[in-house]
Amino acid sequence: MAKQGKKVLLIDADAQGSLTASLGFTEPDSLEVTLATIMGDLINDEEVEPGEGILHHEEGIDLMPGNIELSGLEVSLVNVMSRETVLRSYIEIVRESYDYILIDCMPSLGMITINAFASADSILIPVQAAYLPVKGLQQLIKTVGKVKRQINPKLEIEGILLTMVDSRTNYAKDISAMLKEAYGSRVRIFANVIPISVRAAEISAEGISIYKHDPKGKVASAYDSLTKEVLADGQ
Ligand SMILES: Nc1ncnc2c1ncn2[C@@H]1O[C@H](COP(=O)(O)OP(=O)(O)OP(=O)(O)O)[C@@H](O)[C@H]1O
Ligand SMILES: [Mg+2]
Repeated sequence: MAKQGKKVLLIDADAQGSLTASLGFTEPDSLEVTLATIMGDLINDEEVEPGEGILHHEEGIDLMPGNIELSGLEVSLVNVMSRETVLRSYIEIVRESYDYILIDCMPSLGMITINAFASADSILIPVQAAYLPVKGLQQLIKTVGKVKRQINPKLEIEGILLTMVDSRTNYAKDISAMLKEAYGSRVRIFANVIPISVRAAEISAEGISIYKHDPKGKVASAYDSLTKEVLADGQ
């Protein structure tokens, strides 16, 4: 999206801080201001400035980092008024400055993830092709429906994205067919899939995107096509 001139903010809403680390901020846990700090401030009714705590990546992307403190926040949110919409209040503060805000969620349906669902217009669900978490996906889609009914009526599922697809096996095709059969009538399964590649595995340690690390590779071109597919839908 950034390559196409869009202003993009990434929000790391995963306590593991993998997104933060993969953008080159290799020690998320030692950062002064993170999503947990900001959400804590909002819970305490303290003023938050639009640019506060936002880091800038050399490829023209902004990042609200996340770290282990999100786990503590997750627990303390339970007793907070408007506990599902703290992240939404943050996004209202920064929304004006960006064309797209992407929230990277943790692989669990706790309060932080519910906060993300309560803030989002749509959800993109990556599913690893080597492992089909049908139960998890069912639970996820159920939770999305519940948040849509109770907290965020505009919430949609953007689509399911197959990742780490190994074209040498038929496994991905089988999984794709199974997904289509189970969810195809309700949820889009993206036509573009992300192939498995060592080049992609390398970038989390490099602090750069696949477009910089391996611009001519199959993963870069797959993400390029996916971006077009997503943007075309949003026009
Ligand atoms: N297309 C790919 N081909 C090969 N390896 C990949 C690919 N995409 C991601 N990986 C690798 O798989 C690992 C996990 O990737 P990623 O962080 O995107 O997954 P995740 O599901 O968000 O994980 P987590 O649950 O830890 O947040 C990383 O080491 C990454 O480099
Ligand atoms: Mg992740």
